[in-house]
Amino acid sequence: MTQPFLIGDQMTGGYGRGPDILHGCTIAVNPGEIAVIVGPNGAGKSTAMKALFGMLDVRSGQVLLDGQDISALSPQDRVRQGMGFVPQVNNIFPSMSVEENLEMGAFIRTDDISGTMEQVYTLFPILKDKRRQAAGELSGGQRQQVAVGRALMTKPKVLMLDEPTAGVSPIVMDELFDRIIEVARTGLPVLMVEQNARQALEIADRAYVLVQGANAHTGTGKELLADPEVRRSFLGG
Ligand SMILES: Nc1ncnc2c1ncn2[C@@H]1O[C@H](COP(=O)(O)OP(=O)(O)O)[C@@H](O)[C@H]1O
Ligand SMILES: [Mg+2]
Repeated sequence: MTQPFLIGDQMTGGYGRGPDILHGCTIAVNPGEIAVIVGPNGAGKSTAMKALFGMLDVRSGQVLLDGQDISALSPQDRVRQGMGFVPQVNNIFPSMSVEENLEMGAFIRTDDISGTMEQVYTLFPILKDKRRQAAGELSGGQRQQVAVGRALMTKPKVLMLDEPTAGVSPIVMDELFDRIIEVARTGLPVLMVEQNARQALEIADRAYVLVQGANAHTGTGKELLADPEVRRSFLGG
């Protein structure tokens, strides 16, 4: 058994003093793999990501990163420990240029960031062309590239993406998926929430269907794609 690189184990919790949204939810990503979370709207997918990132009061359960219990760390300290997180909303600074967005991403670093910026521009060449433009003027797919690039600027050890293809065309979605696979192949584990369940399961080494804040189905992407119950309930047959 591979030890997961990141695991939120049996997480239960909610927002502030509100009711629990997550009920013993477990999400893990192994070294070098792509893990995906799918499930209906409001299932708690974003909440699970926020719990992993320390933006939520996890009342029971724990979060382990590379074997270390990080449950008590703030989000900023989790970034320092190697978590790169792209939230579902507000994931860029629209009035700042593309390049300034990338520089902001590197805020925790004190070393030379130019090499990493070149890597981001190699991965997303359009961002180099548009580096002086305000990020808010870019297309939806390009803004998502900025958001992913910004997270990569910290040189994370695990990359967490909440709906990176939201609101983009199928062609742009395919391109973004290809780039994400490329990133994962460099050895960086990726955990991603996706509303395009079928496409996400196709690229997933490990996959989770969340329903009402709890694990409903877990397996490899292939296993879940072949599971009649998953097909009927979540993939439209
Ligand atoms: N900031 C918040 N404060 C209170 N409740 C929230 C907040 N964000 C989400 N919720 C609630 O948590 C539940 C799960 O939401 P969410 O994690 O965003 O679902 P998903 O990402 O799967 O669509 C929903 O009932 C939603 O209303
Ligand atoms: Mg969400």
